[in-house]
Amino acid sequence: MDAPVAGAPPGGADDQGPAGLAAGGGSPGPGTGPPAPLLAVRRLEAGYGRSRVLHGVDLDVPHGEVVALLGRNGVGKTTTVHAIMGMLRPSAGSIRLDGVELAGRPAHVVARAGIALVPQGRRVFTPLTVEENLRIGLRAVPGGWTLERVYELLPRLADRARHRGDQLSGGEQQMLAIGRALLRNPRLLVLDEPSDGLAPTVVEQVTGVLAELVAGGLSAVLVEQNLWVAFQLAASVCVMEKGQVVHRSTAAEFRSDPGTARALLGVG
Ligand SMILES: Nc1ncnc2c1ncn2[C@@H]1O[C@H](COP(=O)(O)OP(=O)(O)O)[C@@H](O)[C@H]1O
Ligand SMILES: [Mg+2]
Repeated sequence: MDAPVAGAPPGGADDQGPAGLAAGGGSPGPGTGPPAPLLAVRRLEAGYGRSRVLHGVDLDVPHGEVVALLGRNGVGKTTTVHAIMGMLRPSAGSIRLDGVELAGRPAHVVARAGIALVPQGRRVFTPLTVEENLRIGLRAVPGGWTLERVYELLPRLADRARHRGDQLSGGEQQMLAIGRALLRNPRLLVLDEPSDGLAPTVVEQVTGVLAELVAGGLSAVLVEQNLWVAFQLAASVCVMEKGQVVHRSTAAEFRSDPGTARALLGVG
């Protein structure tokens, strides 16, 4: 299927000067080197109060690619996600979507620029029905995701359209969180541990849905603890430790190097 999340054609303007918190530098110029990524995070620093959690995160998401962001609990994955989404103000660094600086911009500006979040813990509005939850984020674009297309991708949500959020299973809530994000018609999807807390068969179902989106050209950051999910969906992996990305490789390379997985994640 042709998911509009695949979004824009590659090679957008990447030559804007640094703005706001931008530390500048990093992106390859046009004409030379690899094509500019859809998302380019550079030297990102953020924290809570006086405790700094992110110590210079660098992360690229090429157009039409899923990058898995891995790492043990507490290394700063969700903090990175919140900084990208404008939910947490970074103290330094640059976050560019197709060359447009977003670091320090408020969440609604980031959303309008085209990044949508499937949050850790799903966060569906439980007093509202499935359909009301879906309509909240609806941002229609020509040829984009519609309620009908979301119901086609996620038929379970169509069956449950008039049920309230708190009447759904964990898997259904996860599908709802995904559908709600798609209806924003984002250029980049950020998924924070979509498999978290789900039974293995449900993890497979959710992964199957995401795999369909990947086949349609999804661009995404996929935060995961479940390596099986990451390997099903991601072309490349970045592993965080103590607020930095300390390893990056293709998913295939990472998969064939269990020693590194064990050292960085304690698994493999
Ligand atoms: N709201 C918060 N206030 C203070 N500290 C926080 C907050 N959220 C997370 N932290 C701390 O920041 C660090 C990174 O957390 P987080 O980004 O949630 O990690 P991960 O998603 O990789 O498990 C942890 O030490 C955590 O305790
Ligand atoms: Mg987290």
